[in-house]
Amino acid sequence: MKDLSSEEESILEAAEYLRKGELVAFPTETVYGLGGDGLSSEACRKIFETKGRPADNPLILHISNIEELSQLVKEIPDEAGKIMEHLWPGPLTLVFKAKDSIPKVVTAGGDTVAVRMPSHPIALSLIEKLGKPIAAPSANISGRPSPTKAYDVYEDLKGKIPMILDGGESRIGIESTVLDLTEKPFKILRPGYFDQEDLRPYAGLVLFDPGLIQEGAVPKSPGQKYKHYAPKAEVYCYRGEKNARVERIREKLLYWKKLGFRTGVLAFSENFDLYSADERLSLGSEKSYIVMAHVLFQHLREMDRRKVQIVLVEGAEEKGLGVGIMNRLRKSSKGRVEDL
Ligand code: TXA
Ligand code: MG
Repeated sequence: MKDLSSEEESILEAAEYLRKGELVAFPTETVYGLGGDGLSSEACRKIFETKGRPADNPLILHISNIEELSQLVKEIPDEAGKIMEHLWPGPLTLVFKAKDSIPKVVTAGGDTVAVRMPSHPIALSLIEKLGKPIAAPSANISGRPSPTKAYDVYEDLKGKIPMILDGGESRIGIESTVLDLTEKPFKILRPGYFDQEDLRPYAGLVLFDPGLIQEGAVPKSPGQKYKHYAPKAEVYCYRGEKNARVERIREKLLYWKKLGFRTGVLAFSENFDLYSADERLSLGSEKSYIVMAHVLFQHLREMDRRKVQIVLVEGAEEKGLGVGIMNRLRKSSKGRVEDL
């Protein structure tokens, strides 16, 4: 374990960079963030440049205290109090009507702003030390799998930012659930760690944004329309009945091997030994998707490090945490998901 005072010093140093308008990467419980002063247009513009992020994709402002919220948003709906009391700090981003003072670059010119209070102690301490909200997308180059370790950030952003705060592996491994509170019923714009059932006791019935589920509908969360989470390897995903799924992956492995490709499989522990790929990594047990969420992005990156060209992945059932996982996998695989 790190000695506390050196961690404290690193956070102070990081806050100093942020104060000067520089960017730093920091850990959160979901994924690592690329942080900048959330009230400085210039720092936020730097975030877009550094990641190669499309300018119409707004940023999340991270706060450390509920009192900071009223300076950022025009109105706080009644239910929001209960939602925040129970689920913040944590992997939930809430979308509100934005105050006019929020930099346009943060909201991508829109009239709403996304706000999250992360639970990672280093993230909270960094925000407190800056004394202002931190704007932070995931700390990857746009289009790549999100980083869940300091090394992942280093791989993508070395030489581009002055500092990466290392907080170990992100506990959750996929990004926050984004919930739009500006219209009733509230809508999930991006599925994540908290699912519909987790939100229901505090938010009532929440729906999925049509842009998430309907082919061709325009998503309200611009991030949903971009290519995302893709390693260099080509990803193919197979889901559905277990025997059919295993058989199909075994068949496809033979096919790709015969063509001379280096293959990899991400498999549930129950089926792990059934695959003879060049590289295998486990998604944990099929009985709970907590491990799968935790390792998915890091395994996709690891397959690239191992020079795998074709990655075959066992998919999740689309309920609970499986909804968020499949949302990421559909993008990683550019839609190559076969239902069996
Ligand atoms: O877990 C997370 O949310 C991580 C950590 C670092 O906090 N952050 C993250 O940020 O995933 P990013 O920028 O990679 O994804 C933010 C998502 C995008 O899909 C974006 O379109 C959406 O949130 N978003 C941001 N502001 C929005 C707004 N005002 N209205 C609708 N969607 C918004
Ligand atoms: Mg991202």
